[in-house]
Amino acid sequence: MKQFISAHDVTNIQELINQALAYKANPWKDETLGKHKRLGCLFLNPSMRTRLSTQLAAQQLGMETVIFNVGSEGWALEFEDGAIMNGTTVEHVKDAAPIMGKYFDILAIRTFPGLKDREADYGEHIIKQFIKYAGIPVLSLESATLHPLQSLTDLITIQESIAHTALQKPDILERKPKIVLTWAPHVKALPQCVANSFAQWVNAWGQAEFIITHPKGYELDEQFTNGATIEYDQDKALENADFIYVKNWSAYHPYGTLPPAGGEWILTNEKIRHTCNARVMHCLPVRRNVELSDEILDGPNSLITQEASNRVWAAQAVLSNMLQNK
Ligand code: CP
Repeated sequence: MKQFISAHDVTNIQELINQALAYKANPWKDETLGKHKRLGCLFLNPSMRTRLSTQLAAQQLGMETVIFNVGSEGWALEFEDGAIMNGTTVEHVKDAAPIMGKYFDILAIRTFPGLKDREADYGEHIIKQFIKYAGIPVLSLESATLHPLQSLTDLITIQESIAHTALQKPDILERKPKIVLTWAPHVKALPQCVANSFAQWVNAWGQAEFIITHPKGYELDEQFTNGATIEYDQDKALENADFIYVKNWSAYHPYGTLPPAGGEWILTNEKIRHTCNARVMHCLPVRRNVELSDEILDGPNSLITQEASNRVWAAQAVLSNMLQNK
């Protein structure tokens, strides 16, 4: 794997999930694979889970990790080719990235969208400029439109949960699980990355009945959702669900806006009653009692901690493939 920025960089998603679960069973089995290799992690935006889990994953492969909070501690970077840099930017990515390419063996980058210019965000200009100029494999720690390590983690968690449920209810293995991605309320405009990415990975995996539910006006880019059923009635969407993935996102059109949602979109225990005892997922961080209620987050159906802990194994499987250029 020369880069990891979307599901399209993976030849066999099921195999990658299995590799991640093998690392979960035996974290140190490849502890020398990354010996004398360095991972540079650039954060243009905040992170907790991605930062910590990626470092742990690299350590378990014997890699050294260097974290650079370039967004808050580095020189302000310019990304436009041909820019006349007489404003606030201090260093061009075409000067900075090749240096990082000499310091590190793999470069990992987190960057968020501006949510102002859809063409620029959906063009993935920032991460593509690093890929263009770094000259080494690039790993996305979340980009303007996608969050592939999160989505791989989500599929790992779903597969693990199915295997666990099958011990009591073997019938779950005889059908495709029903996965529902539901929009949730929030106080501010958030990127579409996690929802786009989850849709892209579930569709590419092809092992689920997949429904997306959201208020009218919150349709996601069809390049990611094609293959899923869109259902505007949340109650109907949730019927017989096995997994509910909760996430807020702002509108794709008009881009970055918050059209009025109408109705009650926050998930409750009452809504879960009509599901197949659905397990509830969220990538975190979550605004409690805005996006998801305490009763769900602290209840028996929540998978959030297990899901976040699985970030380590997703990152380890991906780094392992990148180190071996598989
Ligand atoms: N889910 C996720 O990416 O968490 P962080 O923003 O804390 O890394």
